[in-house]
Amino acid sequence: MDLSVQNLMSPVRVVSMKTIDMDTLNDVLLFTAKKPVERICVISDPYQVPAREKLIEKLRSKYELTVLTRVQPDPLTEDIISMLPECGNPDIFIGIGGGSVLDSAKAVSMLYGNTLNPDEFFSGKAGSSASARKFPLVLIPTTAGTGSEVTRVGVYRDTGNRKHTVGSPPLFADTAVLIGELTAGMPPALCAATGFDALSHALESVWNKNATPATLRASARAARAVLENFEPLYDALTGTINLDSSALYDRALSMTEAACMAGMAFSITGTAMGHAISFILGEEWHVPHGKACAFTLEDCFMFVSQYEAVKERLIALAEYIFPVTKGESALAMLYDTIVRTKKKMNLPFTFKDMNITITRNEIEKLFARSFDDPKMKNTLPLPDEKTVYDLLEKKIC
Ligand SMILES: [Fe+2]
Repeated sequence: MDLSVQNLMSPVRVVSMKTIDMDTLNDVLLFTAKKPVERICVISDPYQVPAREKLIEKLRSKYELTVLTRVQPDPLTEDIISMLPECGNPDIFIGIGGGSVLDSAKAVSMLYGNTLNPDEFFSGKAGSSASARKFPLVLIPTTAGTGSEVTRVGVYRDTGNRKHTVGSPPLFADTAVLIGELTAGMPPALCAATGFDALSHALESVWNKNATPATLRASARAARAVLENFEPLYDALTGTINLDSSALYDRALSMTEAACMAGMAFSITGTAMGHAISFILGEEWHVPHGKACAFTLEDCFMFVSQYEAVKERLIALAEYIFPVTKGESALAMLYDTIVRTKKKMNLPFTFKDMNITITRNEIEKLFARSFDDPKMKNTLPLPDEKTVYDLLEKKIC
């Protein structure tokens, strides 16, 4: 896959490699830091991921490494603040992990050595006036989904369990490194959830009031690449099909690039109603982000495609993904593919599938705050509250 054209949309330079290639990685660090690198602060998490351990050991053999792993899913602001005194005066920061790790690396590298007040930063009040990051940042995803490596946003959880999306240009990393060998280490359930996150990014960037011709082109390429690579990668990870390690790394890299491309698109448009709803699921019941995005994807698709302008966009997208079909048939094929893939990957269609018991009244009470979320307001067309509550009520059983 060729990310070179999409790179024009993003200030983050993207380097792809099939396997861990230390010669290239050393060059990436040198060119990103713009000086010889001696000390690196790695932000990671406490979970054992063999390919990541291998990468960290290779880095440790050449550089003085400080590895900080205090990252939980939906990272806590207090964990990030607690890591600041332990960074070890690095020449460069590297985040190696899933979206929570990459978001944490953005915040730690932003706040380290900066006069910026952490509370102001996490409340989003610093906004684009935030003073620039003082230290270079490289992000290396170990999942193929969040696109965080190329976005200017981070999602952080406060002590009251509320998730805050902070967006600011200094949160863009300098360089993203996509490595097939790393994302090939995902367990199948993580591949399923994060892949649906990527698909949601691509599609929510289409039914989005901020879409431009360039973002629509990038979303289309991203959605097609996700659908080409997602199932074969999942099947290989579950052992349903046999791939040798070379073919597996190729497939994982293609999926990682697809997710990255979707990240470039939504970094410009923002996400939409599915993500706004997913945040409530994450805050109230700790539903993992990708799973929470998958929950309503086909319902959001049905709702927005009633709106003629969006329907035209989706038909164009579907014809691009399935070139032998046209018009309504292509649209139906795209919808059916989403539903079929969700079923195959055991992703939730109902609240019951997530072990959540809820009533219509509770839906209205809990999901009301999704309308305060700017992501909801990006949706084209903008749903009213009754539409969202009806949509969710149908998912009670
Ligand atoms: Fe997402």
